[in-house]
Amino acid sequence: MRALVLAGGTGSRLRPFSYSIPKQLIPIANRPVLAHVLDNIRALGVEQVGVIVGDGSRQIREEIGDGSRFGLAVTYIPQERPLGLAHCVAIARPFLGDDDFVMYLGDNMLPEGVGVPAAGFAAARPAAHVVVRKVVDPRAFGVAEFRPDGVLERVVEKPDRPRSDLALIGVYFFTAAIHRAVAAIEPSARGELEITDAIQWLVDQGEQVTAAEYTGFWRDVGRVEDVLECNRRLLADLRTGVEGLLGDGVRISGPVVIEAGARVERSRVEGPALIGAGTVVEDSEVGPGTSIGRDCTLRGARVRDSVVMDGVCLTAPVELRDSLIGRGAVIGMPSGDGPYRLIVGDSTRIEAAT
Ligand code: DAU
Repeated sequence: MRALVLAGGTGSRLRPFSYSIPKQLIPIANRPVLAHVLDNIRALGVEQVGVIVGDGSRQIREEIGDGSRFGLAVTYIPQERPLGLAHCVAIARPFLGDDDFVMYLGDNMLPEGVGVPAAGFAAARPAAHVVVRKVVDPRAFGVAEFRPDGVLERVVEKPDRPRSDLALIGVYFFTAAIHRAVAAIEPSARGELEITDAIQWLVDQGEQVTAAEYTGFWRDVGRVEDVLECNRRLLADLRTGVEGLLGDGVRISGPVVIEAGARVERSRVEGPALIGAGTVVEDSEVGPGTSIGRDCTLRGARVRDSVVMDGVCLTAPVELRDSLIGRGAVIGMPSGDGPYRLIVGDSTRIEAAT
């Protein structure tokens, strides 16, 4: 089996971040979403992975390289414009050949892995095997409808009036039958070749299409709230590992990771919390539910339930919670009043003069 990972697209709901960082590279527990995706693919025993890339191509190639770090062989497949999930399958045909494959959306986080649905597919080898999950508001997703006897009857992309609460998770298993379906469908009203239309085409042709319900944690990292939620979920499994330098007056409680090369002084770190290599924390309070990237500086800062990306400078008595701070942002608020909630893109400066 091969894998096709979709890491193109625009990520418009994650602005301002998506102007400068592809959403698939947003760090969750200090590792890009895409790294978590590739781990799950490797855990299936798959080695050959095609990665669809668009505007964020350069950064994604820099981060993932040839895939060997993940035990994978990665082939990049450029997509000129985000013309739809089924379009990705079409342009990946030379890479996929006639092999079975798992198509994995590069913004989907499933920390418990996808071994169970993969085994379901391998056992029966239907033309398509989709993964569904109950959600409160299915209108933002593909939605699966089932007959009373449990047979999949219809898949609809982002319906206004969903007839079921089962959303399609961004992990799909296909045999080569999907290529006939992709060739047969037309672009949708929004101008995209929809994978849901291709799956529906298979259903209408009488091909076997099955579904597995997933009950574990799942989010697609489409909005800031999803990023923070995923981060909290991953940090919940954190195990203490302090390799950095602890100076005087440091209090640590709960599971905390301080990477080698980080330095913490006169501060309190309440787990779960992660502090990346090269980061300096002084006179600060970090956590719980917080990851701080590499090479950051925190002086007199209180940060909880937040994601702080690499190279950020928080250099004044500032109190943050539920915040997402882009790479290299500089924030200094000498007044110290707070808490603030900041959704700050890469390279932003926020400073209050007294
Ligand atoms: O996350 C699950 C949902 O993902 C499913 O329920 C929907 O049926 C499915 O259409 C998809 O909906 P989204 O609106 O969330 O898709 P998004 O545009 O965010 O794209 C998903 C991933 O695929 C993302 O990593 C970007 C990438 N992509 C997307 C398009 C449209 C590409 O690489 N190329 C594309 O042309």
